[in-house]
Amino acid sequence: MVVNRPPMGWNSWNTFGENINEKVVLETADFIAESGLKDCGYEYVIIDDCWALRERNEKNEMVPDPEKFPHGMKYVSDYVHSKGLKFGMYSCAGTMTCAGYPGSLDHEFIDAKCFAEWGVDYLKYDYCYHPRTSQGHILYKRMSLALANCGRDIVLAACSWGAEDTKKWIKETGAHTWRSTGDIFDSWESIKNLAVGQMKALEYNGKGCYNDMDMLVVGMNGEGNVGLTGCTEEEYKTHFAIWAMIGSPLIIGCDLRKADEKALNILKNKYLIDIASDGSYSQPFCANQEIAVVNGEMVKDFDNFFEPILVKFLSNGDIAIGAFDMIDDGCSPFLVLEDIGLGESTGKTLELTDVWTGEKSYPVNGTIRFNLEPHSSKIYRARVIDAK
Ligand code: GLA
Repeated sequence: MVVNRPPMGWNSWNTFGENINEKVVLETADFIAESGLKDCGYEYVIIDDCWALRERNEKNEMVPDPEKFPHGMKYVSDYVHSKGLKFGMYSCAGTMTCAGYPGSLDHEFIDAKCFAEWGVDYLKYDYCYHPRTSQGHILYKRMSLALANCGRDIVLAACSWGAEDTKKWIKETGAHTWRSTGDIFDSWESIKNLAVGQMKALEYNGKGCYNDMDMLVVGMNGEGNVGLTGCTEEEYKTHFAIWAMIGSPLIIGCDLRKADEKALNILKNKYLIDIASDGSYSQPFCANQEIAVVNGEMVKDFDNFFEPILVKFLSNGDIAIGAFDMIDDGCSPFLVLEDIGLGESTGKTLELTDVWTGEKSYPVNGTIRFNLEPHSSKIYRARVIDAK
């Protein structure tokens, strides 16, 4: 199966961790369907780790914990589907999941069959407790084949955090997304570290197998399983914008039932969702990155990754342009249109629409200048127009 855009949805881990249960999942599905989030494109409701009993049954199958999921998984899945949404679950390529529940190692085909019977549409597949001697690419190939032969279309969301140079082999496994970062926490430091680190992996993102920068922390406000300090509204905006610009899956991690208006407004930003989901599949690139020649080789200057200007060409000819302050002091990066193919000789310039305010502006002397407060960002959807 082909996945045509980075998946969007909700996952239980960031807020609920071990405390996941049927009630939370059903109420979250209700919320997504009724709050307008579904209409924005959020569709997968994903149960992360800690859903199973510690032991398999006599048929070697994993068993949903009856205290947490008293009606079993098919019931949950049917409910999620009845809301017009899709159902996601979690397992691991090792003997155990990261939280110590049964993993799928050597049970891949049995587990894939169960997932299919339960109506699963998306499987997050983690990488804890794998044998030292086995290679990641083989374990992901195994589960990919098991899913491809289970009789149901199931997205494979690989989660090996970039280990063993995942980016080099993940596409050949057939996975549809790959976790290109370590785990996120609800703090600016965490967001910044993941975003800056991702600049070196931009070229691996693309159609059919997307870089997954981990679940969103927007709206967590320091509460829940990975809640730390929490973030300001501006920081959550920058977080959402950079995930969208890079084309990461947009998987909400807060307790949606308690989400405030500010968080919902961020999560529903139509401009950013359109940019993330754009069908052109052109890779985003860092447009203010210097290219230097070192020892006869062209190398990228990573310094500008702390004040990156990301650019993505969109399918209707528009251009998404986003500038981000990752320096923490505020910064003033600038983009020369010539550098993205719109030099003076083309007779063209851009009309810039701010994705948060809808305000229009124009480059001056072929240059877009950004003045960014600490931790802030500025994102435009730009339309190519005639220069006057
Ligand atoms: C790993 C993953 C997380 C989460 C936990 C669950 O740390 O990277 O996203 O799934 O395991 O235990």
